[in-house]
Amino acid sequence: MVARQRLICRAAELDEGGLGMRFEVELQGQAQAAFVVRHGGRVYGYLNRCGHIPVELDWQPGAFFDHSRLYLLCSTHGALYDPATGACVGGRCNGRGLTPLAVEERAGGVYLMEEDGQGDG
Ligand code: FES
Repeated sequence: MVARQRLICRAAELDEGGLGMRFEVELQGQAQAAFVVRHGGRVYGYLNRCGHIPVELDWQPGAFFDHSRLYLLCSTHGALYDPATGACVGGRCNGRGLTPLAVEERAGGVYLMEEDGQGDG
């Protein structure tokens, strides 16, 4: 398989603990909601799907962080996730974390790393 990269957004668009960027990935032939956020100076990407019920996390587009700006929050029932790992750290996710995506920040851009045959190119 060949790794490819797809530009998600400019790196400057992601502030520490601020709004995330929504995008879509194609997995097993289906478009899935996903997002990237900046935390601890790094960029992290996950499927936008809560571990409790598979709904999107953000209550307004890109609003993934809680008030402390340290945790990702599911707006439906308040599950909390560690932005650095996607691990469930509280609430109804009951140990079921987020699904991480391979993202990379480089040369002013944030890229999704895709295997060939995955994604829409
Ligand atoms: S759907 Fe996310 S906590 Fe219930």
